Amino acid sequence: MAHTDDGHAHSHSHAHSHSAFDNDKDALAAIEEHHTHMLHRVTALSDALIAAVAGGDGGTAYDEHANLVAWCEDELIPHAVAEEGPLYGPARETPEGRLLVEGMLLDHRTIIGLVEELRPAEGARAAALGLVITRAFALHLRKENELLFPYIARNPDLSLAKAVAGLEEVVGQ
Ligand SMILES: [Fe+2]
Ligand SMILES: [Fe+2]
Repeated sequence: MAHTDDGHAHSHSHAHSHSAFDNDKDALAAIEEHHTHMLHRVTALSDALIAAVAGGDGGTAYDEHANLVAWCEDELIPHAVAEEGPLYGPARETPEGRLLVEGMLLDHRTIIGLVEELRPAEGARAAALGLVITRAFALHLRKENELLFPYIARNPDLSLAKAVAGLEEVVGQ
């Protein structure tokens, strides 16, 4: 049995290793895992920027600021944008989900605005904005993990598994 499945499993393991799900429970677990990974990363980047600014190391602070801005542009904003279509969209069409989704969209706009503020910031202001982005993201992902995505998972008219299939920005790879 293992032999007949081998080639098939192999050809799929790269493209779909983590992005197709049998059920909403598995999809929710993958989203939570990716959120945790993202939060660890932004916390480490923000802490490194704070340490460099606090230590008066201008060169390192410059580099850490650039690292944090790059992470926000390459990971954070694409993650938010990817969620807004297939995840937020259908939930927004339900009477119970509408206000929550609109609140989550406000979070996204706020966090993206903070990234815009971070980009030209320097020194203590840059370090402060980095921590604000980290904490705002932590609060936002708790609302997704504990409110919005469980709501989608238990609503028989919505499918979390279908919504995130292939969305590496949301479930990792
Ligand atoms: Fe989000
Ligand atoms: Fe998210």
